[in-house]
Amino acid sequence: MTELTTATIRPLTAEDAPAYRSLRLSALAETPEAFGASHDEEAAQLLAWFAARITPQPPSRIYGAFQEDALIGMAGFLAYGGEKKRHIGLLWGVYVAPAGRGSGIATALVAAVIAHAREHVRMLHADVGVDNHPAQRLYEGLGFRSYGIQPKALCIDGVFHDETMLALDFTI
Ligand SMILES: CC(C)(COP(=O)(O)OP(=O)(O)OC[C@H]1O[C@@H](n2cnc3c(N)ncnc32)[C@H](O)[C@@H]1OP(=O)(O)O)[C@@H](O)C(=O)NCCC(=O)NCCS
Repeated sequence: MTELTTATIRPLTAEDAPAYRSLRLSALAETPEAFGASHDEEAAQLLAWFAARITPQPPSRIYGAFQEDALIGMAGFLAYGGEKKRHIGLLWGVYVAPAGRGSGIATALVAAVIAHAREHVRMLHADVGVDNHPAQRLYEGLGFRSYGIQPKALCIDGVFHDETMLALDFTI
């Protein structure tokens, strides 16, 4: 049972760019198989790139979890564009720093993304490594259901990783 988190959850703003850059690069270095981007690709980016990343075109946004003003977790919502795809959004970039885990912070972050997504899209997608049982349990506990496996979804240092594709259907 997850204890209630004491973290503050709010959308990131451009002022959060230095903290976001630091946490994001830690995440990419610590668990490369959990993210589609590589550490080296993003480490090469300037701070302005991270500031733009965390202030995307609405309704896309990134939520941060803060404890005593320190950013310790994050979860992104990306709304697909275009007439035929704009009913779908993507949950992406979910991460909680190791010291903050196991106290419901990721649950609170993903719940914030879901509450926001529900207002803007009909379907929310997420991709999770097939071996990433903590994230799968987290997402399924919040209503996501698996609809298939994408083989060789990522290639990291020459090793392929399959991903489970999940969806949360707000219409049922
Ligand atoms: C996955 C992750 C975000 C969970 O963060 P967290 O703040 O510890 O999660 P919570 O405390 O909110 O736990 C929520 C649920 O996740 C699942 N979970 C979390 N840690 C788990 C673990 N070590 N083993 C199994 N399930 C786990 C459980 O279902 C848990 O609910 P429960 O405690 O009621 O059983 C965190 O471990 C992380 O950042 N991992 C590395 C990056 C990553 O894998 N991101 C997801 C990419 S798809």
